[in-house]
Amino acid sequence: MFQKGILTVVVIFFINVVLSLTATNTTSKVTWDKYSLLINGERKFIFSGEFHVRSCLQRSLHKTASFTLSFPQYFRLPSPDLWRDVFQKMKALGFNTVSLYFSWAYHSSMQDDYDFEGIRDIEQCLRMAQEAGLYVIARPGPYINAEVDNGGFPGWLVNMKSKARQNNEEYEANWKEYFSAINPYIEKQQIDQGGPIILYQIENEYTYNVDANYMQALEEKVRADGIVVPTTFNDAATLRNFANGKGSVDVYGFDSYPVGFDCSNPDSWPLKTPKIFRLFHQVTNPSEPLAIYEFQGGAFDPWGGPGYGSCQQLVNERFAKVFYKNNYAHGATIHNLYMAYGGTTWGDMAEPTVYTSYDYGASISEPRMMTAKAYEVKLQATFINTVKPFTSTDHCTAFSTNLAILVDSLQDPNTKTQFYIAQHLIASSLSVSNFNIFISTEDGRYSIPAKKGTYLTLDGRDSKIITAYYDFGSQHLVYSTSEIFTHIVQDSRDVLLVYAYEGHAGEIALKYPSGDANLTCSSFDVTSDYNNNVLQVNYHHPDGTNPICISSPNKDLLVLVAGYESATKWWAPEIAPDERVLISGPYLVRNASVIGSTLSLYGDIDQDTNIEIVASESINTITWNDQTLQLRNTSYGTWTSFIPGPSADITLTDLSKASWQYISASPETQLSFDDSDWMNANHTSTNSPYKPTTYPVLYGDEYGYHYGSLWFRGTFDDSDSVTNIMITASTGTGGAWIAWLNGEYLGGETTPTGTFAIDKTILNANGKNVLALLAWTTGHEEDGAADDTYKQPRGFTDVSLIGLKPDGIEWKVQGNLNGEDIVDKIRGPYNEGGLYGERMGWHLPGYPDSQWEKVSVPDDRNRTGLSWYRTTFNLDIPENYDVPIGVRFEDNTSKRYRAVLFVNGWKLGKYANDLGPQRLFYIPEGILNHNGPNTLSIGVVPLDNSTSFGKVSLEAYGTLLSSKGVTTLVNSPGYDPATRF
Ligand code: GAL
Repeated sequence: MFQKGILTVVVIFFINVVLSLTATNTTSKVTWDKYSLLINGERKFIFSGEFHVRSCLQRSLHKTASFTLSFPQYFRLPSPDLWRDVFQKMKALGFNTVSLYFSWAYHSSMQDDYDFEGIRDIEQCLRMAQEAGLYVIARPGPYINAEVDNGGFPGWLVNMKSKARQNNEEYEANWKEYFSAINPYIEKQQIDQGGPIILYQIENEYTYNVDANYMQALEEKVRADGIVVPTTFNDAATLRNFANGKGSVDVYGFDSYPVGFDCSNPDSWPLKTPKIFRLFHQVTNPSEPLAIYEFQGGAFDPWGGPGYGSCQQLVNERFAKVFYKNNYAHGATIHNLYMAYGGTTWGDMAEPTVYTSYDYGASISEPRMMTAKAYEVKLQATFINTVKPFTSTDHCTAFSTNLAILVDSLQDPNTKTQFYIAQHLIASSLSVSNFNIFISTEDGRYSIPAKKGTYLTLDGRDSKIITAYYDFGSQHLVYSTSEIFTHIVQDSRDVLLVYAYEGHAGEIALKYPSGDANLTCSSFDVTSDYNNNVLQVNYHHPDGTNPICISSPNKDLLVLVAGYESATKWWAPEIAPDERVLISGPYLVRNASVIGSTLSLYGDIDQDTNIEIVASESINTITWNDQTLQLRNTSYGTWTSFIPGPSADITLTDLSKASWQYISASPETQLSFDDSDWMNANHTSTNSPYKPTTYPVLYGDEYGYHYGSLWFRGTFDDSDSVTNIMITASTGTGGAWIAWLNGEYLGGETTPTGTFAIDKTILNANGKNVLALLAWTTGHEEDGAADDTYKQPRGFTDVSLIGLKPDGIEWKVQGNLNGEDIVDKIRGPYNEGGLYGERMGWHLPGYPDSQWEKVSVPDDRNRTGLSWYRTTFNLDIPENYDVPIGVRFEDNTSKRYRAVLFVNGWKLGKYANDLGPQRLFYIPEGILNHNGPNTLSIGVVPLDNSTSFGKVSLEAYGTLLSSKGVTTLVNSPGYDPATRF
């Protein structure tokens, strides 16, 4: 059995090798081979065709290229100027590529109708990515998953008779319509047309129930639409779908989420890091780079979940350290973090397993703030960008003196530089382990560290990359047990910045054949030893960053030895290709440039900050956000200075003191309500594979209402014979529904079914009776398994009035105003649902609410039915400040109510007081006017017969003095009576 397995692997390997020889590239601007992508014909690292390396037992096939990350979702940040901010932050953290999903649904509320303007302007988004210096992996689907409604399929697709994600005429006509609409934008922004797009992903995790003809058809259409960059595919796991054969793509890859998505156990790690990647790659697509198109950058959180703080903890900087480095050890050179910035699943964009915030515990938080993980990612990315041989290596074996430690060794066949990646064999281990490793380089064989009584140390959940036999500047590093952040040339000397956790021993060995290297400065406990032309320097990593100056006959060297915390504060922006300066201290350094003798730095500051700068002595002026800094020289040839932190007093309006307008908001419940202009809900059959139990079909989608709340009103005349009403709803996880009979509340449920005994006295034996049902939906399911799960209905599958003959009731349905032909084209299909206030435009700025009742919020009066509240407030955030602001809800969580939160007409929150966990809702600047008036509008949906409404406040997530630039206001049309009817 085992031997048969090996034979299969060998056969597959050779088939792949043969296939690889026939691989052709479509554009000469982006090509690939078994080692790496080549962009503009330029391979960053040259592999010799043939090589043999001492101690290399196994030849691996990896390479270099993109260190990428996902900011997949312009659609999760509806303020285009902030796209630039996020892109710049990514670039500053060291990424060179972003992976962008495009959402079919976001651009199409109605068949044959596509919108790429305003917040949907994907060309602008792509241009901004490029201006920030990023390449783009385009991922337009048609299916994207992404925790969005229908997995990105438009609402109107739900009514399709045929199966989606299969090869059939109806679906093909639909996805072709979308591809014909979006591909021209992508086509224009490809690298060969001067744009940033280097790769194009076909489908998304199309791994189960696959139809190769469909993949093939997608690819043919993509090529016919002028896409010339290589196609890619992200298999849901290491499963080999579309790596070869019909429907296969140019550069196959896979996704991996090793700690899963249960953030309620935030310290729970698997025992091991993934161990299969390298072998899988060798047998699957050895002629292509090893690509992980989605690797865990965070996790999503469900309604009632523990909240994103826990996801941040589950996928924290320790996870990034251990798991990302494990991927590098396996040879991944296309490494995309999903997500690096999550954003907001605003409006009714979410699918049922997620709520409004999509913070994701990502490196950059929802309000665009840095996290500890962002800084860890910066350490890794800056190392990868600087130490070029790391990206073109073969795998070797290596040994440590401690069985608890696993060491992978990599070697660049060209430079012979080696890397030893150490991790605990048990990844989740919390033990601190000391060890030596045996290295064998062109310099010789060593057991490192060499100094007696010192060790390499790995804390629990720690991993290190140790570099050996490495030439940088004019230096030759024999090895360093401290990790390298970066190195630069500072005029007459080289500068190397290394780091480890505070207290860990460090040992650096440098080759100085002529032997007269001396330590000339060091403010901490450093020892050195010179033996066999090798200068060995020993120290312990301090709190902070300490210098070691080495003067030598070739070129002097400044080694900056940092403790981990201090290392995370260093930035190494490029001032020219591969030319960097070093700055320590700021919260963010966006970019740096040198003109003449002036170094201009731009960035963000969160507090009074002492900074240190290492740059050429030819610089005599350094500016920070255009202000000249007072510089002081240090004794070891760097500058220090001081940047004052934010000092403005930022006070936000106290909304508990504001004047609010109130109106009762559910006239639909009343017997007298006129629903004559509502659509008849009279379908007696449906295309949906999810058939109802009772008819007519009471699904919103069936009648063109795809998003948010839905109303159904059933009228029956002259009957007091109804004894019970039994209802089954389909609202999605976390959804709810409420029933009223003749204006009387029957019940509000968070479970699918409810049965109500009817008191005869509320029925009209001689006259009209109305059963009014409100469905509070949480979006449509995704379609991850390609089995039409996304067609699960939203509405009611069974409404049985016991005592009434089955056809004795006539139904009407209401959803968002005008259904698929949405009224508000600017804010788009996700912004409005079917609540009365949404249809009337009560959420819009300028709605004439002066006749409403004046109240204050919290509103302690118990109210029955839905309530609507409006207020306005001003903001006056000073220029050059970035103060992300949110709206917080606070109330006793035993009160069962839901709410929709609108700011300036945009639905930025769906709140569940009874479920949580989200209570603070981020309102992106641009939507929020930071210098002027804002309109806040909240619809409250009590699930109980009556309820009061709790506290609402404005809250700043942080205060930064920022160089992000002006955020222009997003077009937010006000109330127009002509469009509301
Ligand atoms: C992947 C999928 C992404 C997203 C992720 C979980 O499987 O491709 O779109 O859903 O899981 O956040």
